[in-house]
Amino acid sequence: MIFARIAGTGSHLPGEPVTNDDLVRRGIDTSDEWVTVRTGIRARHFAAPGTNSSDLALIAARQAIEAAGCSSADIDLIIVATSTPDFIFPSTATLVQAGLGIRNNCAAFDVQAVCCGFVYALATAEKFIRSGSHRRALVIGAEVFSRILDWTDRSTCVLFGDGAGAVVLEASDEPGVRAMALHADGSHHPDLWVPGNVAGGQVMGDPFLRMNGQTVFKFAVKALDEVMREVINLAGVPQESIDWFVPHQANIRIIQSSAKHLGLPMEKVVTTVGIHGNTSAASIPLALDCAVRDGRIRPGQRIVLEGIGGGFAWGAALIDV
Ligand code: UT7
Repeated sequence: MIFARIAGTGSHLPGEPVTNDDLVRRGIDTSDEWVTVRTGIRARHFAAPGTNSSDLALIAARQAIEAAGCSSADIDLIIVATSTPDFIFPSTATLVQAGLGIRNNCAAFDVQAVCCGFVYALATAEKFIRSGSHRRALVIGAEVFSRILDWTDRSTCVLFGDGAGAVVLEASDEPGVRAMALHADGSHHPDLWVPGNVAGGQVMGDPFLRMNGQTVFKFAVKALDEVMREVINLAGVPQESIDWFVPHQANIRIIQSSAKHLGLPMEKVVTTVGIHGNTSAASIPLALDCAVRDGRIRPGQRIVLEGIGGGFAWGAALIDV
């Protein structure tokens, strides 16, 4: 039987941290106290003009390939989860492929599931690998959300940041990904969206992120609790065997609530929301790479990932690393 295992991780954050006080100095009508108390966010990173999702993704991808001990030529599938692609087309994944110098024998495409994009991309790659059609996938979450923020809307612009995270997922005889669950309910799309598009050479509608924060918050707490229980049941493992919880990093209060519902102490939770903000599809692989590189997450341990975002789309994965 073929399983899919994480062989290496990588990540990249552009530029210097931008603190809440820096945002106040830039003229945003907010305070460090409000943002910290409501969200746990103290800082985030923003890409310089001209730096795009594929640039961040490429750096994260190179790190993940190095950590996996393979080379670009060994990659036969690239999936990039992003809601802020470089272009309408081609996919950001093909730009990463070009940057890595891979010319052939490698499929490349993007997945769009907003903040749950990395979980969707991982689930997709896992199925390619388990089917035997592909052996080594780069799965990347990369975002430049700073490009779609309305700086006059303090209820959203303080929440998000830019970054990228990547994993190499490869075929193995031993189980890595043990269970995955994906869900979506598109009836909620006006609660978190960028309701614009390009037509006739112009932006039609609104090009900025709009969110009904309280609706998202309430839905997220319930949906994440359910989906994490679902993957633990699907995997058929005891809850106590989970070593690390690596959640989507949107709001520390949502993360604390999820951990509490699962009976996981916060010492077992990887939290980067304080220093990264919400980097959408990049947040889970960024947090994962941080905890792998600082030695918290080690081979042989068991982790649970979860994410939720626009759509709404949500999901979780239980993985032995
Ligand atoms: O990644 C996708 C998933 N996204 C999420 O998970 C986000 C989920 N939602 C949230 O995290 C929270 O709902 C927010 C952090 C977005 C907002 O927190 P909240 O506790 O729901 O605040 P609120 O929207 O109810 O606003 C409370 C007050 C309002 O003032 P009044 O009407 O009570 O006078 C807002 O105007 O806070 C005000 N406010 C701010 N004040 C200072 C809103 N944004 C700010 C701000 N600085 N940046």
